[in-house]
Amino acid sequence: MSQFLEIIGGKPLNGTVRVSGAKNEVTKLMVASVLFDRPLVLENVPAISDVEVTADLLKSLGASIEYQAHNHRLKINGANVSKHEAVYSSDSGSSSANRLSILLAGPLLYRFGKAVVQKPGGCRIGERPLDLHLYYLRQLGIKIAETDTLIELEGALTGGVIEFPYKSVGATEGALLSSVYAKGRTIIKNSAHEPEIIELITVLQEAGAMIEYDSEGNIHITGTDKPLFIDHPISIIGDRLEAMSYLIAAVATDGKVTVEGIDPRNLTTALTHLRRLGADVVIEDDKITASRGGTLKPLMLETDPHPALATDLQQIFVVLLSRATGTSYMHETVFDKRFAYLEQLNILGGNFSVAKKCAPFRTCRFSDVHDHTAKISGPVLFHGGVAKITDLRAAFALTIAGLLATQPTTLHDAHHLLRGYDNVIGKLQSLGASIKLGDD
Ligand code: EPU
Repeated sequence: MSQFLEIIGGKPLNGTVRVSGAKNEVTKLMVASVLFDRPLVLENVPAISDVEVTADLLKSLGASIEYQAHNHRLKINGANVSKHEAVYSSDSGSSSANRLSILLAGPLLYRFGKAVVQKPGGCRIGERPLDLHLYYLRQLGIKIAETDTLIELEGALTGGVIEFPYKSVGATEGALLSSVYAKGRTIIKNSAHEPEIIELITVLQEAGAMIEYDSEGNIHITGTDKPLFIDHPISIIGDRLEAMSYLIAAVATDGKVTVEGIDPRNLTTALTHLRRLGADVVIEDDKITASRGGTLKPLMLETDPHPALATDLQQIFVVLLSRATGTSYMHETVFDKRFAYLEQLNILGGNFSVAKKCAPFRTCRFSDVHDHTAKISGPVLFHGGVAKITDLRAAFALTIAGLLATQPTTLHDAHHLLRGYDNVIGKLQSLGASIKLGDD
């Protein structure tokens, strides 16, 4: 059954919210459990549908999982995975499961010497090819055959040199998960360094994996032949993207919100952009407070791999930029189609446009190829209406537009929001938002 959001705007968000565990860490640790020879216990696990989808995928391979959403604890025994085929029917496989399937390639190859994984299609934010995944697997000695829908892999994982042409989060994680047991040494050059990847490395190392960095940030892995295990619970770090979503919503609605349970070091660039825009930002230990300081100033912002501004914050920042008087630009350089939601924002009263040209004085690989630069002429007055959510982060951006609107807003396809934001309706309500979930 599909669900929709009903929002009555006009109220500022005020108060404190506790950030939940990071979506992009927990799902990767669940996949990593297939490399472990004992159960892994995770704490601070967010109650989001992406965790359920990942659990279903791993269960279908034979893993046993106890997930207590109410106390945010998950116990997973990946050691009893008994199938090498991460394949499911198209109606049960969500796009999240499809994307995680390729990350299972390395762990399944380690366990069975062969693996079959599903090919994901493009999605609402970009084509998202798998070439970099196939590249690291080949560099590690794996033979690959492809059909229209499947990737068949076979071979003994053997260390090698991996030099990525682009800092891909998933490909870096996949290369790590494939090399911890590979025979000999692997070097991963031009790897991504998102905080959730650092956490994955930390957990793998704690479990016994041999991982080093050099002074250029390259990752070196020496394959181990000892079983990986951790005999104490691992706590998932606070979700930096969730934290920033609430802080941006506070500034956009002229409110004041404190987020707790977040490491501010993971948000350096985004918090500085918030200040450059004109917001007041107070950072204290694991808490951040943001409110609208004075007049909001237009800006030119650009997304890039961490520690630059995260692409996942692009859509949410665009709505905030629409509150500033003057012309702002958002230059998206990570995903080739991450502006589908602008059409929906325009239904709610926006006047956003997107172009193939790079932002002024910028250049990137999408120049003149993809619509990747949004122009924002502010201030925008959202009047509300009925719109459709296109993807996870667009869900939060459209929700903020609804909170700003002068008339009620209905947003269809609410499942996108619930996929990645734990208790989002409850948290927004606790900050004073008038928002509820309805069933279509
Ligand atoms: N890319 C390729 N070939 C590949 C892999 C990636 O060309 O084989 C390209 C992508 O098409 C994209 C760019 O590289 O243009 C970056 O993609 P990346 O691999 O870094 O992204 P991802 O691993 O697929 C994760 C997050 C995304 C987040 C990005 C960037 C998870 C589950 N997903 O995706 O989050 O936007 O990193 O930080 O970790 C989401 O949560 O909904 C989400 C989209």
